[in-house]
Amino acid sequence: MYVIRKKRYTTVRRGASVAEQSNIPMSYSEHGQGDPIVLLHAFPLNGRMWEPQVSALKERYRVVIPDYPGFGNSSNPPIQPDIDYFAECVRELLDDLGLERVVLGGLSMGGYVAFACLRLFPERISALILANTRPDPDSEEIRKNRDNMARRVSEDGVEILVEMQMERLLSPNTLENNQEVVNKVETLMLESSPDGVVAALGAMRDRPNSKPLLPEIEVPTLVVGGVEDAISSPEVMGALAADIPGSIHHTISGAGHLSNMEAPEEFNDVLRNFLTKL
Ligand code: MLT
Repeated sequence: MYVIRKKRYTTVRRGASVAEQSNIPMSYSEHGQGDPIVLLHAFPLNGRMWEPQVSALKERYRVVIPDYPGFGNSSNPPIQPDIDYFAECVRELLDDLGLERVVLGGLSMGGYVAFACLRLFPERISALILANTRPDPDSEEIRKNRDNMARRVSEDGVEILVEMQMERLLSPNTLENNQEVVNKVETLMLESSPDGVVAALGAMRDRPNSKPLLPEIEVPTLVVGGVEDAISSPEVMGALAADIPGSIHHTISGAGHLSNMEAPEEFNDVLRNFLTKL
């Protein structure tokens, strides 16, 4: 089932908080029945990046896939949201759907949002899946790159993302041999709005350090990455897993940053294995 929210932000309001809005501007899709799992997407894509996992999980689970404001089918966010805004959107979605506790998964930016959810409402999270993400804040260099990307997207549109992001997101093997995934990633990027992209870049740029959170995590946690991930290397993922008590760590062969799309079978095996033990 796909739920497309109507556009609500007719004017852009600086610093508007979720609590001030009548409703949350997140479209979502929902699939299957069973224990609820919410999967948060990477930047600059949308919830459809999780299609291989939806197919694998919907027989046994209720899988909820939102699009962040400004991505996929969602309307634009207020300028300039912080990372907590995205987490509050998730909380509001859980409230709307009557979901008291969920398994929360996020890939890359999805992980940054999941960390914010953990800070704000840990009691709503029964287990965590942290894929291809990192807990530390941006370096000065990355912050500058984000500002540069925001400027380019404002000037030239989201098309520029294909040139700027594709090689960061996919492994050389995927880029060369898996045109279907390359095309899909491009399609998802082009479904993003420039305002949404600029807002997400600012929120990621200013996100806090999540490292202090890690030793406090008490729920079962799966840490999964790609062996050729240029953004969240296996070393980064290994250190992340080492800081979370009792977490499970798996590195997927033949995958880069978008490991769930590049190696869906291995990713799904690891995911199912983790979920069945909960
Ligand atoms: C993502 O995949 O969400 C982004 O690459 C994350 C980032 O740029 O830090």
